[in-house]
Amino acid sequence: MSSSLGHHSFLSVALAPGAVFSSQGTPTITLKDREWPLPIEEHWAAWHDVADGTIDYEVVLDKLSEGNLSSHHIATFINTVQQAMALGWLEYRIISNRKILAKLRPIGKLLHNPLSKALMPKVLTPSRFTTTRMEADFILAKNSRFGHALDIYDPTLLINLFSVHRNLIEDKTKQLFVKFAYASGTLIDEESALLEQTPGLGFWEAHELDFHNQSRLGNNLNPVGGVFSWKGKVPSLPALKAPDISRLTVKLPSAHELPLLSLNDVINLRKSIREHGDRCMTLQDLSNFLWHSLRVKEVLEPNEATGLFYEASIRPYPCGGAAYELEVYIATLGFDGLNAGVWWYDPMNHTLELRSDKSNLIDGLLQTASISAAGSGIPEVLLLITSRLGRLSWKYRSISYAVTLKHTGVLYQTFYMIATALGLAPCGLGAGNSVLANLATDTDPNDEASVGEFMLGGPLKKAN
Ligand SMILES: Cc1cc2nc3c(=O)[nH]c(=O)nc-3n(C[C@H](O)[C@H](O)[C@H](O)COP(=O)(O)O)c2cc1C
Repeated sequence: MSSSLGHHSFLSVALAPGAVFSSQGTPTITLKDREWPLPIEEHWAAWHDVADGTIDYEVVLDKLSEGNLSSHHIATFINTVQQAMALGWLEYRIISNRKILAKLRPIGKLLHNPLSKALMPKVLTPSRFTTTRMEADFILAKNSRFGHALDIYDPTLLINLFSVHRNLIEDKTKQLFVKFAYASGTLIDEESALLEQTPGLGFWEAHELDFHNQSRLGNNLNPVGGVFSWKGKVPSLPALKAPDISRLTVKLPSAHELPLLSLNDVINLRKSIREHGDRCMTLQDLSNFLWHSLRVKEVLEPNEATGLFYEASIRPYPCGGAAYELEVYIATLGFDGLNAGVWWYDPMNHTLELRSDKSNLIDGLLQTASISAAGSGIPEVLLLITSRLGRLSWKYRSISYAVTLKHTGVLYQTFYMIATALGLAPCGLGAGNSVLANLATDTDPNDEASVGEFMLGGPLKKAN
């Protein structure tokens, strides 16, 4: 990336990534990932210039008028360009000295032409939703609420993303750039900036809105869903995390059947209980709870013929793609039958594997849980949930993390139901410490992201 400021710069219109211009038969632009082509019925020589992507848009228009076309014809061309721009077929570029300085590139399916906005305000200020990120050879700046990203190839332009008074900009490149910034929503007017602080939009934190827009269809053009982008490049992660035979392992007693309660009873009895104690948990309780919530009932081998490209499994709770990427650990100060420690539950062998017995880590986890539960007592058992996210991202694009959080919610409800049926005290938690969780479970955060915590214990008599 180098600066080309100072040279004559101009605006060009180009095909957006994924758009293909075909001049055979009826000239059309098609977007590879879109359902419909845009027929170009007239002026296809001008469209050739557009497809070239390096020609001054004013020159393209001049050439049209030199061809003695009526102003009506030229207006039709301009309208089609604007329509194509609004639909995401085209992008704008600032070009100087044959180099691209910046691009305004469609990233959403918002149907508006980005540069056709009414008069630009005089004072522009950065949106608090603006994010910037390094890509291979440009800086990506965007506001995920808007349909266009700003790709900055000349880093000296970046400074113009701070507050600017439009009238004070004399340089044409900067003027064009600020127009791009306004169209991409990275710079906004003062009224909109105020709106960003006001209940409604103000309720959203920047990272949460970005994550929301990136992991749903409609506000981004990224591949979303089961696209298998890692297939054929690396093998999928195994369905089951391998036990570590060098670690201390406790075999859990065989689980009992669940008590015969109706669904009506379980649903209506279920409540969050944060104090534990009158009846302490036993290893049998823990065994029953883990077995009925988490055990592996069956492993499904990959079968290309049925479209199952990876090893999957069947368990008591539902899971997208039967991927079962969640792992569960038990942190406890110990109770009858189980020593203090952080234990991994092996859902295939129905065993517990010791991951850490460091009291500072166990205390840290249990104290954090107690604070999360409004200062209730230290839980007898804290279930830690981690996600082997790679199981999901081998298959899914853009939604893996959102899906794993959905699974965490599914598991919470399963835990609530089983604990209620077993007469135990359950309580889901909204926040936990990922660093402590990875240290205590002896896992790498890249392999297992900590995504949830759940308290469990023997209930107080008065709570029942
Ligand atoms: C995802 C989730 C997160 C929760 N986080 C907390 C928490 O951090 N602290 C807490 O004391 N309770 C937490 N709870 C329990 C809720 O406060 C409780 O479900 C709610 O008040 C309704 O009460 P009930 O569960 O007794 O019906 C959480 C529940 C869920 C499902």
